[in-house]
Amino acid sequence: MPAYAILGAQWGDEGKGKIIDYLSRRADIVARFSGGNNAGHTVINDLGNFSLHLVPCGVFSDGVMNVIGNGVVVDPDVLIEEMEALQRGGIDISHSLMISERAHLIMPYHVMLDTLAETRRGNQAIGTTGKGIGPAYSDKTSRTGIRAADILDIETLKVRLESVLPFTNDILEKIYEIEPVSIDSILEKSEYWRNRLGSFIKPVGRYVHDTLDSGGTVVLEGAQGILLDLDHGTYPFVTSSSPTIGGASTGLAIQPRQITNVLGIFKAYNTRVGSGPFPTELFDNVGEGIRTIAKEFGTTTGRARRIGWFDGVLARYSNRINGYTSAVITRLDVLDHLDSINICVGYKLDGEILDEPPGGVAALEKCLPVYETLEGWDTPTAGISEVSKLPINARVYVDRLQELIGCPVDIISTGPHRDHTIMVRDILAS
Ligand code: GDP
Ligand code: IMO
Ligand code: MG
Repeated sequence: MPAYAILGAQWGDEGKGKIIDYLSRRADIVARFSGGNNAGHTVINDLGNFSLHLVPCGVFSDGVMNVIGNGVVVDPDVLIEEMEALQRGGIDISHSLMISERAHLIMPYHVMLDTLAETRRGNQAIGTTGKGIGPAYSDKTSRTGIRAADILDIETLKVRLESVLPFTNDILEKIYEIEPVSIDSILEKSEYWRNRLGSFIKPVGRYVHDTLDSGGTVVLEGAQGILLDLDHGTYPFVTSSSPTIGGASTGLAIQPRQITNVLGIFKAYNTRVGSGPFPTELFDNVGEGIRTIAKEFGTTTGRARRIGWFDGVLARYSNRINGYTSAVITRLDVLDHLDSINICVGYKLDGEILDEPPGGVAALEKCLPVYETLEGWDTPTAGISEVSKLPINARVYVDRLQELIGCPVDIISTGPHRDHTIMVRDILAS
């Protein structure tokens, strides 16, 4: 019953999509467990170049069922659009997609509220993706959300909307002074969604559980990263879900003991999109060079990603919370051009050296990174797929990251294509 959790180990965009596509060839199910279309997962393989926001990254491998779990928030219009785009690209998922009946839906008013709240925050804005994620999860916890199962019964949905929508409309009218949303417009959309998506809405918890029970392999597709976690991230500059190992369990109704492998996906350096502390951030030509070479622009919003050196303090913290059985280092090739590379091995705060990030965002803003400098490598690593072919200094660099993270680096990624991958240890065989 192997279940492989693929978790973002930094601030998102670590290359999870690439690794999930790589591993999904040996999977029975690939299942998303958190977030929504704030995620942007890039997959490049022999079928083409894809950017997925809601559909799991197992769709390119034959015989894989792709599951959207109960922990995900689903914008039905975005999902329909993504399914159609895949269909146009020759990827038919009409028999390989399931949506949990318990997944909450992102309603049009959630998208409006996200943007309105960000504008109101002014210079304290979080820099959200504007996709309605926060408001949809807020409604979930306030018990005023609409779930996928609700659109299967339009009469009951009407009664539900009559109870929850007046409050949202009060906020729209009285706080933001804009037009309220009509129940009829939501019901009309819901009928369309039911016609398009109704046959995919299923009790997926049981399906995933039974597949694991009968010896099947499940890849749990994480979105975002631990430092954006609602509890363990750099609050309030976080997302509204749990991209950590706990979220993998609750977001799919998988028993924690069923998760056999926990893979932490780390970029060989750090990036972040949106506001919030970033101790190793680079503001010089080195950062600009990495952004340009690596095309570090958001997959979902197109925003320039902030760039920084690898942060060993945050990496160790990430491992303490998620308990990785393997680390994966991606984008090693992006550092090919550098003569020397810094790694943050500690923080200095008020004269003290810290080996864990402080919980408060103000204190984290004040932390100064303590760097160790390693020599670069003069032979490029781009596209290498055997560990023995890596230049010695690149191996030294990865070994140092391994020490700092505190778990074995079992996969190294040297390019965006599925084949640009070094399997240091065949974790699928273990
Ligand atoms: P995700 O959100 O974690 O799936 O990551 P994104 O897809 O948002 O961003 C990762 C970017 O890095 C994408 O453009 C990938 O194509 C690219 N990528 C992934 N692995 C590698 C790698 O090893 N080398 C290079 N050069 N690019 C990579
Ligand atoms: P993937 O799955 C990088 C960031 C946003 C913002 C914060 C809150 O591709 O790694 P939200 O819209 O979630 O309320 O925004 O979280 N963010 C991401 N950054 N990768 C992502 O997903 C992200 N999803 C959300 O930029 O700072
Ligand atoms: Mg991404």
